[in-house]
Amino acid sequence: MDQDTEKRVAAEAAALLVEDGMHVGLGTGSTVAFLLPAIAARGLNITCVATSVRTEDAARELGMKVANAAEVNHLDLAIDGADQIAPDWWIVKGGGAAHTREKIVASMADRFVVIADSSKTVDGLHAPIPLELLQYGLANTLRLLDDVTLRGVPDSPDGNVIADYQGDASDPVNLAAWLGSVPGVVEHGLFPPSMTSEILIGRGDAVERLTRAI
Ligand code: 5RP
Repeated sequence: MDQDTEKRVAAEAAALLVEDGMHVGLGTGSTVAFLLPAIAARGLNITCVATSVRTEDAARELGMKVANAAEVNHLDLAIDGADQIAPDWWIVKGGGAAHTREKIVASMADRFVVIADSSKTVDGLHAPIPLELLQYGLANTLRLLDDVTLRGVPDSPDGNVIADYQGDASDPVNLAAWLGSVPGVVEHGLFPPSMTSEILIGRGDAVERLTRAI
């Protein structure tokens, strides 16, 4: 079964979690690209917050109502893809460079649901870990981070530089704390287990559903 089928079945299962009247956060990426039409097809009256310009454009194109994230402080549900999913639920995001907005949107939501194809499950996290860095003092931030590469993609819509930490990521608790402590790091792509409520993984044409034990 190909990856796109797995992305689609996970996305379609997540679309069924959306209910009329909800405020919904929309992630970014190729898995979310399957989610948007699946939600739109349900014809619900919902208000969305998008994590990237491309998601916002795609959602509007499908006739979905998109609110200004600056004016929203709560979402019922947010749904997004992932680059790596570890057995202990540490997740890496930001392959599409949208991890700062994605983390903010996840933190707005009562329920954050991750959708992915089965290739995203890993035994342990590894580099690259996406970073968003402030332009100001960039040379110093790169010196402090040491093992980091600039991605060479356009700056984020918030004007920041996209880079990747290339060092050891086998201890995400300490790595997240350290990355978060380096001046100039706007955000990193390590999402802690406490952030995610459910993980829907496409396996062939079936969906494996994981729910976080509270
Ligand atoms: C974007 C992300 C994406 O959710 C992540 O990269 C997965 O992308 P895809 O669904 O294309 O595999 O974090 O910043």
